[in-house]
Amino acid sequence: MKKKLTAVVLTAMALWGGETLGFGAVMHEYAQRFWALYYAVEAGNWELAVYELHEQLEAQEMGEALRPKLAGALKTFEKSSLAPLQKAIEEKNLSAFKKAYADATRACNACHKSTGHGYIRFQLPKTPPPLLAF
Ligand code: HEC
Repeated sequence: MKKKLTAVVLTAMALWGGETLGFGAVMHEYAQRFWALYYAVEAGNWELAVYELHEQLEAQEMGEALRPKLAGALKTFEKSSLAPLQKAIEEKNLSAFKKAYADATRACNACHKSTGHGYIRFQLPKTPPPLLAF
């Protein structure tokens, strides 16, 4: 209920304020979480990885509310690309995680291409996000 209300408020703000709180900002957070979870796993901080993936999915819900046209594609991405990642994290399986991460990265960029944003290509930064200790 609270989540739904937040989504409604965010949508209203986005419609009212143009790009202030738009889908691009949500994607930015989506990518930040995706970046952080990689280095959490690398550091063996599986709990942080679980947390970041959870937060990524919460950001996705905002994205679905802000851009309903993409909700279906985001859900498909969640099922086919984030679920294997989640499974690997739960099982603490590093090699399955790395494979799922590379597959998911390709799927991120495939969606950018198919939505007319082929110039947006996510690449995993070579260093961990500086705000967190790993
Ligand atoms: C359902 C399609 C879809 C999927 C899946 C998707 N994206 Fe996006 N992404 C978009 C669209 C559309 C934009 C362009 C933003 C806009 O339209 O405002 C975007 C923009 C971005 C941006 C630029 C944001 C900015 O303005 O700073 C980043 C970074 C990004 N995506 C990362 C990712 C990552 C990382 C993943 C996978 C974990 C991902 N995206 C998955 C559709 C998608």
